[in-house]
Amino acid sequence: MQIDLNGKRILITGAAGFIGAHLAIRLLNETEGAEIIGLDSMNDYYDPSLKEHRLDLINEAVKSSKSAFKFIKGNIADKSLIDEVFTLYKPGVVVNLAAQAGVRYSIDHPEAYIEANIIGFFNILEACRHSYDNSDAGVEHLVYASSSSVYGGNKKIPFSTDDKVDNPVSLYAATKKSNELLAHAYSKLYNIPSTGLRFFTVYGPAGRPDMFAFSATNRLAEGKDITIFNYGNMKRDFTYVDDIVEGVIRVMCGAPDRQNGEDGLPIPPYAVYNIGGGHPENLMDFINTLQEELVRAGVLPQDYDFEAHRKFAPMQPGDVPVTYADPTALEEKFGFKPKIEIREGLRKFAEWYKEYYKK
Ligand SMILES: NC(=O)c1ccc[n+]([C@@H]2O[C@H](COP(=O)([O-])OP(=O)(O)OC[C@H]3O[C@@H](n4cnc5c(N)ncnc54)[C@H](O)[C@@H]3O)[C@@H](O)[C@H]2O)c1
Repeated sequence: MQIDLNGKRILITGAAGFIGAHLAIRLLNETEGAEIIGLDSMNDYYDPSLKEHRLDLINEAVKSSKSAFKFIKGNIADKSLIDEVFTLYKPGVVVNLAAQAGVRYSIDHPEAYIEANIIGFFNILEACRHSYDNSDAGVEHLVYASSSSVYGGNKKIPFSTDDKVDNPVSLYAATKKSNELLAHAYSKLYNIPSTGLRFFTVYGPAGRPDMFAFSATNRLAEGKDITIFNYGNMKRDFTYVDDIVEGVIRVMCGAPDRQNGEDGLPIPPYAVYNIGGGHPENLMDFINTLQEELVRAGVLPQDYDFEAHRKFAPMQPGDVPVTYADPTALEEKFGFKPKIEIREGLRKFAEWYKEYYKK
């Protein structure tokens, strides 16, 4: 089913997060008459001032937008708040990006993942289910973030959504796979059109400081060493944030169709896609390009001794050596193909970093 986002009420959870904020800005720039409700707990998993900065960027975009934005500070694990938000705003499209992210953090902080990713996501599903009460039109499409980490140590590449993904190697991955399972059951039982997106290592301006490009930049800028795991023998399907947002918006506009099976019951209007570049980079190439771009942007001096700041280490628990998206399904259905090459993306990141930390 095609959905016109103009004039639509759109709920984005995790709106002050990396992907959520870029999505909100793009929607503000490109829609008319839409009302975007951004919800975020502003938790301190990483520096909340970065989340404030993203909200500032959103508020800047509001000034020239033909759509509106409203921010709600709150936790998706708070059932009464979520019910209230759905009752009050009746969103037609919901994009659930709020989650406890990060593979490594899940090893020492499992509760955060159960709270946000399991209880929080369950509350979103329940609210979608009840959005149809009293014959209301309710939620036309629920789009939610899954992750490439569901593929675990999958040996078969590229990773396809047809692959069996029952062997997660981190609690984070287990919660993301659980989201897909819960969404399937709710789509079947309550006819909720839902699409899960397995994101592959997103990077770009105002990104996440716990992810490699940003954390390595922080350490190099402070004159510290960077640790390169699995002795650099890693490949990642890095995806630039603008490409991700383009893909998310296309998907938001195309909900899986509601139809009944021979038994008269709904065939679940359910889909899951990979959303990634489809050509993984060697980690060492990524690091070399990052370093060149940091020098070019003036974050690091021309004569920076990179070799002296590289420490090699073995593989870490929960980590995987390769991520490699098979992007054909998204390409065929939505004509989506990431465009931004690593150098261009890292250049934009380095320039943003220079500007942001100048303050
Ligand atoms: N960035 C990536 O490479 C990547 C890869 C795979 C999956 N994902 C998924 O995409 C989504 C967005 O990721 P991101 O990179 O923007 O992460 P992010 O941490 O920057 O954004 C998530 C936002 O959600 C908020 N949040 C966390 N728990 C919450 C809760 N219980 N209630 C309300 N708000 C809460 C956080 O404050 C944060 O602002 C997440 O679900 C993440 O798991 C991201």
